[in-house]
Amino acid sequence: MNSNEQVRVWDPFVRLFHWLLVAGFFIAYFTEDDLQTIHNWAGYLVLALVVLRIPWGFIGPRHARFSDFVRPPRVVIQYLKNVARLQAPRYLGHNPAGGAMIIALLIFVLLTCLSGVTVLGLEGEGPLAALKASWDHRWEDIFEEVHEVLANFTLLLVFLHIGGVLLESWLHRENLVRAMVTGDKRADDTPVE
Ligand code: HEM
Repeated sequence: MNSNEQVRVWDPFVRLFHWLLVAGFFIAYFTEDDLQTIHNWAGYLVLALVVLRIPWGFIGPRHARFSDFVRPPRVVIQYLKNVARLQAPRYLGHNPAGGAMIIALLIFVLLTCLSGVTVLGLEGEGPLAALKASWDHRWEDIFEEVHEVLANFTLLLVFLHIGGVLLESWLHRENLVRAMVTGDKRADDTPVE
């Protein structure tokens, strides 16, 4: 097979989802104090993206499907051991550790958004505005704290995610960030899956 041959791996929805998620997440993270309206809209964007990504994980093309990259913990651990030995096999779709991280990111991004909508509701705004009348005002402080902890934990996951992407790009001498932009990866060796 020609070593320059490319194969389509990431469909347009996954790529648009990813880069809008990156923009929405960082805009929301850095506008939390002073730019409340922008913060709220960036949060809604992120929430909508994650809600749309979930069905796409069942009906989307092969490498977008959860069944393509969600693997049992023992497979993830074995993959990480292989990474430590610098012998991790190349995957065309998400590798087992990347897949586990993606699920963690989706869950924590979702929880961060839901806690944010709850804080807003307790302030009498947004889709849960009715909460203000029925819940004790002490919940507002509690949910604000929960929202902040979840956002910071998600940021930590994002750093690990970027570290994993860079490590795998180096291990397999391929630019995974560019692949998430163009959708294509090289088809020259025999990837595991
Ligand atoms: C500039 C920062 C970022 C870069 C360079 C980056 C890069 C990438 C790359 C290259 C992939 C594909 C990994 C693979 O080849 O298996 C990916 C997937 C993913 N990333 Fe990021 N990422 C960044 C920030 C983020 C952030 C902030 C989030 C979430 C808050 C995020 C969530 C995800 C998710 C959910 C996927 C899976 C995509 C899908 O299958 O739908 N990333 N990222």
